Amino acid sequence: MSLETYLFGIKMQSPFILGSGPLSYGAKGLIRAHKAGAGAVVTKTIRDNPAVNPFPHMAVAAKGSMINAEEWSDIPGSDWVEKEIPEAKKAGVIVIASIGHTPVEVENWVGKADKAGADIIELVSYERDTMLPMLKRARELSDKPVLVKISPNWNNPVGIALEALEAGADGITAIDSIGPVLRIDIGTGKPLVGGGHGFGWLTGSAIKPIALRYVAEISAAADKPVIGLGGVSKAEDAVEMLMAGAQAVGICTAAIVKGVEYIEKLNKKLEKLIEDLGFHNPSELSGLSHKYLNPAANSKKFAFLYNADTCTECMACVRACSYEARGLKNKVMSLDTELCRYCGLCFSVCPNGSLSSDF
Ligand SMILES: Cc1cc2nc3c(=O)[nH]c(=O)nc-3n(C[C@H](O)[C@H](O)[C@H](O)COP(=O)(O)O)c2cc1C
Ligand code: SF4
Ligand code: SF4
Repeated sequence: MSLETYLFGIKMQSPFILGSGPLSYGAKGLIRAHKAGAGAVVTKTIRDNPAVNPFPHMAVAAKGSMINAEEWSDIPGSDWVEKEIPEAKKAGVIVIASIGHTPVEVENWVGKADKAGADIIELVSYERDTMLPMLKRARELSDKPVLVKISPNWNNPVGIALEALEAGADGITAIDSIGPVLRIDIGTGKPLVGGGHGFGWLTGSAIKPIALRYVAEISAAADKPVIGLGGVSKAEDAVEMLMAGAQAVGICTAAIVKGVEYIEKLNKKLEKLIEDLGFHNPSELSGLSHKYLNPAANSKKFAFLYNADTCTECMACVRACSYEARGLKNKVMSLDTELCRYCGLCFSVCPNGSLSSDF
């Protein structure tokens, strides 16, 4: 069993890629992530001018999720291409240079990042309409693989991803953070972060289902690599991302909150999980769920399966039925099929799988 993963023919020690964010603030951060077992690392986004961030600009938004008002890299692009990328390369890091957010900045930094030793270029933009012009110029400036990072805040992100692949992108990173969003500290009435209007961007567990949807849709429609990024915090999340069609798995928020060394733990857990599921490497899982993601909605009712031996009589399934269709007494489960809408919530809330279905 090996976690070795190939992306554009580049061998990575793990399918986990550290996403662009505060942990990739410079060479030191990139090297730390590499030593923690990341397969590759994405730099903080390089732009013409260093970012000036509001205070504070990161907060926990909900369990496993963050709100942030952090901008792009706060060090000059010249530092990245003269010092940070070469230093990380010297340490054996697989470096993905994140370049944003305009065609002019692509012009200024893609060629230099390539020469500095970046293995892969990742393009990122706040504006949907700038992405294809950015890609066109990046393609002219570098022969390195180019990833296009898509934003769920754009209109039709799948459409632009497919257009980008058609226009010469080598792969897609899905997804960027979602927003703007707001959280308020009810003790003070103030927003949690100091961005304009108190707004920030949502990342982490809360956005995982959105990321999965885009990863699945893009990877099913195109035969180029998709990096699944958004809400991965456990080995199970990584497997889900792979099954949705990702070739490699990005991680940002969980590594920020738990510390980048958490990637080492994740690698071990993922290795065991893949083995327990009966597979030999991450790539065997990639796109496994596509065959179940049918365009038509399922109209076939399922059968319920109940295991009285493991049922703890917690009554969660009974309480969760909006239609009062389910009953449980002395470990005898009852169902009023006239009332039941086959919504599936009762077995979804069962904490130990005692109630399940053949869906
Ligand atoms: C504090 C913070 C800063 C980020 N900065 C960048 C950035 O500079 N460039 C970028 O492309 N994405 C940036 N991101 C977005 C992440 O790369 C990633 O797309 C997003 O957080 C979803 O992944 P996650 O749920 O694993 O965090 C940032 C995310 C966070 C939390
Ligand atoms: S499937 Fe839905 S409607 Fe039917 S018993 Fe379960 S919760 Fe109630
Ligand atoms: S939710 Fe599961 S464990 Fe709880 S009563 Fe229902 S079947 Fe039993």
